[in-house]
Formats: sequence, C-alpha cells, structure tokens
Amino acid sequence: MEIIINKDAPSGSHAAARVVAKLIREKPDAVLGLATGSTPLILYQELIRMHRDEGLDFSAVTTFNLDEYVKVPPDNEQSYSYFMWENLFSQININPENVHIPNGMATDIPASCAAYEQAIVQAGGIDLQVLGIGSDGHVGFNEPTSSFASRTRIKTLTRQTVKDNARFFGGDESQVPHHCITMGIGTIMDARMNLVLAFGANKSRAVAATIEGPVAAVIPASILQHHPCTRIFVDEPAAAHLKLADYYRWVYDNKPAWQRV
Ligand code: PGA
Repeated sequence: MEIIINKDAPSGSHAAARVVAKLIREKPDAVLGLATGSTPLILYQELIRMHRDEGLDFSAVTTFNLDEYVKVPPDNEQSYSYFMWENLFSQININPENVHIPNGMATDIPASCAAYEQAIVQAGGIDLQVLGIGSDGHVGFNEPTSSFASRTRIKTLTRQTVKDNARFFGGDESQVPHHCITMGIGTIMDARMNLVLAFGANKSRAVAATIEGPVAAVIPASILQHHPCTRIFVDEPAAAHLKLADYYRWVYDNKPAWQRV
C-alpha cells in the first residue's frame, strides 16, 4: 500500500486525478472503475477540467461503476446512474455505450450481476478502480463481514451506511434504500490498481483500521493490504489515527521523482 497524506481533500483529489490522467494518456482505451458519494467529487471536477483545458480524451475509455441502489430508477436523482451523468459523464467526451452501471431495476438480479462480471472480463478487466471508504470500513457497498471472495451481488446496507447516506435524502433515513448491487471484494481485488480516497475526520478510524489493522472481513477495505497496487490518498483529518503517519510522509518525501504523482 502506498499512503499519501495530503494537506486537504482538493490536493489529494488533484493528485489522484493526475494518476487517472496519466493512465488515460498512456492507454487511451483504459477501463476505469468509478465510485459515487461525496469523496470523488473533486476528483471528477478535476478530470472535467483536464478534459476541457488539456484535452484529456475519454472517447475510448470504458467505465464500470461500483454500485447502485436497488429499485431506484436511473432518472431518479438519488440513483448512482444520475449522479455519474450529472457529476462526470455529461461533461466529458465519454461514449455512452462504454458506460456500465449495475442495474438496480433488473428483474433477475443474480443474472444481471453475473452479466456485469462478464462485461468486466470482456472489457479486459479494470485498469484502475476509484474507491471511497465508508465510515464502517466498507468499499463499494461491501459491508462488514462481506466475503473477500465476493463478486457483484445484492447487499443490504448497514444502519451506519443508511445513516451516513441520509444526507443525500434530505436527512431522512427512512428514504434511504436498504438494498444495493455492488461489485464484490473479489471484483475489486482483480483491478490492476486501486486508487482509494478518504477525506475528513469521520473516516479516520476506518482509514487506520484499513491500513494498520489486521486484515479482517469486519473492515472490508483491509483486504487491500493484499492488493499489489493500492494507493491511498487521505487528508490530514482522515490521517489522524495513523500511528505511522510520519513514516508515510517520509517515504513520500523521499521517493524518486519518477515515482511521484
Ligand atoms: P462518501 O462515501 O464518499 O459519501 O463518504 C464513501 C463510501 O461510502 O464508500
């Protein structure tokens, strides 16, 4: 794991955007795994700016989103499909045919999930997966005790996640769906690079458990300790409980120039 402590969310998000942009410039038909929520918003704004000002070209890029609520139609503004079109896709030159988001409206959910896995394989696998971390340590919607071998499937949100996400539903927890479709932890572990973003004090415990705790299914993100290429961008508040924070800063400050982001 590479832990990069940034002074704030914008500097961390801009550094992460440089990693995404570098991949797209080197591999124009890259396959990106994308996330929703508050965390990746600045990253997406920076990618939009790079597209507009620097000609970053998404025309051959393929995307697969991590998750979607069940029974929230794509034209509903709470759906993750709506979120992605609103906050990224409508402002870059992505080919709509290359966009994939789990189908929360599928009548046969297991078949739809299996087809999603198949589509990822057919696209050549995910080159770079963007991830947030839930305050309970989830990645995607793989809640605590999710199998490390899991694939795309339906999951039930924990009460903590329902509470955390109520802010997107006018603060009304009763409006938050209880079910979602999410890529599995096995799916995420197959990505060639995981780029994790975590900002704010409410993520500090989950971040510390992910990076410095034991690998355990109660903190699903901790499995990333076994991933060969995971970069974690945190801000100072999210780094507050890292025991080895000074070491991570020292490592980053002493990297050879070519390894920097
Ligand atoms: P957030 O969610 O970005 O809205 O904090 C992250 C997550 O739940 O994975």
